[in-house]
Amino acid sequence: MSVVNNHFATIQAAEGEGSAQLLGDIAAAIGRCRQCALCGGRTNVVPGFGNPEARVMLIGEAPGKNEDLQGRPFVGAAGHYLTDLLGLAGLTREDVFIANVLKCRPPSNRDPHPDEIAICTPFLRDQVRAIGPEFLVTMGNFSTKFILKTERGITRLHGQVTMAGRFKVFPVFHPAAALYDQTKQVAIEADFRRLSELLRG
Ligand code: URA
Repeated sequence: MSVVNNHFATIQAAEGEGSAQLLGDIAAAIGRCRQCALCGGRTNVVPGFGNPEARVMLIGEAPGKNEDLQGRPFVGAAGHYLTDLLGLAGLTREDVFIANVLKCRPPSNRDPHPDEIAICTPFLRDQVRAIGPEFLVTMGNFSTKFILKTERGITRLHGQVTMAGRFKVFPVFHPAAALYDQTKQVAIEADFRRLSELLRG
């Protein structure tokens, strides 16, 4: 690993370093991070988890209580639903990599603050580069706005592919929001079926 640029989080592969090793380096840097106040309340950092060679990377918002306790993303109720949604796309958790915009839990699951997003997202950028997925499935407003650099909301953007550099970005509603809203549930399930078609190409 080598640290480049003037940002502490920008990590570049050393010669011969594979994506799994690079993701490990990024996770270790996240574990050391004390750049914002969220580090004071965390039990564990939640760097992300999954297949380092994934064709599909999913990006949520921030860890909740269960994720903070286990150090893994989407392990609570929304995570169980996400596993079912992946099934609609013909995917398992072993096929994909799942990460969040923030790597530490905000108190009482409040929305991420702009300064927290600014500090934390270089880690996400490095993870996207390390994995090099074909699809970035952004779940909810925070990840969609960050990846697409847009102010447009998820209600307008979900279910459409937009290119961001070499990545196909496919926004969907956040699974936690869809759990409690029948309209969003219908939409997110249709979007994951559509993802299955896109993956078959
Ligand atoms: N919601 C998220 O956005 N991320 C998680 O890891 C869990 C719930």
